[in-house]
Amino acid sequence: MINIAIDGPSGAGKSTVARALAKKLRFVYVDTGAMYRAIGLFVRRHGVSPDDAEAVCAQLPEIEIRLSYSEDGEQLVFLCGEDVSRAIRENEISMYASVVSRIPEVRSFLLQMQRDLAEKNNVIMDGRDIGTVILPHAQLKIFMTASAEARARRRTRELLEKGQDVDYETILAEINERDEADRTRAVAPAVPAQDAVLMDNSAMSVEENVAAIEALMRDRGLLL
Ligand code: DC
Repeated sequence: MINIAIDGPSGAGKSTVARALAKKLRFVYVDTGAMYRAIGLFVRRHGVSPDDAEAVCAQLPEIEIRLSYSEDGEQLVFLCGEDVSRAIRENEISMYASVVSRIPEVRSFLLQMQRDLAEKNNVIMDGRDIGTVILPHAQLKIFMTASAEARARRRTRELLEKGQDVDYETILAEINERDEADRTRAVAPAVPAQDAVLMDNSAMSVEENVAAIEALMRDRGLLL
């Protein structure tokens, strides 16, 4: 199986690029952030504070996450049988996901599910620790970044398009806070794998970004 890992901070365009590339190559696109978001949503709904590790861990046996794919390759996320694909995108859930993702038991809870998907399918998996922890043998690892301003701009636009009431300055501050937390946490920090290719896409279109990754795949004999 071909495994491609795409890591990087929030708003770097990982999901847009990974989804487009997966569709083109007929690979399975796995958005691992969605799994952390589903756990964040679950604890919020149950009135559990995301930084109370013990209380979050006590909820884990109740949490059942399943991914499925719509006909056009869109990833759908089911939490205990309910389609939460939209609910997990609420801006408030971003911080919940980031906070629960610091808990080692939460990470190991999701690890096997992520590895299983990569064992059974050609995948493009996006996250924070895919190249470093989840798929250390991925044939291609990319660490995608863009300036904080470019990322906040994209994210503000995306949330406004979804009808959420947000403003650029708040999103920029939240992005900086969340990335700092993701980058400096003790377990599986969001840092590039030693063998990752760094890609700054501040000035790239989605098409250019997809083409850049395809070129790397070709170089490595992963594409004809
Ligand atoms: O990619 P995203 O914004 O949907 O991710 C939400 C949070 O989940 C992010 O702040 C960090 C965490 N996360 C993680 O720790 N490891 C991953 N592989 C993916 C996401």
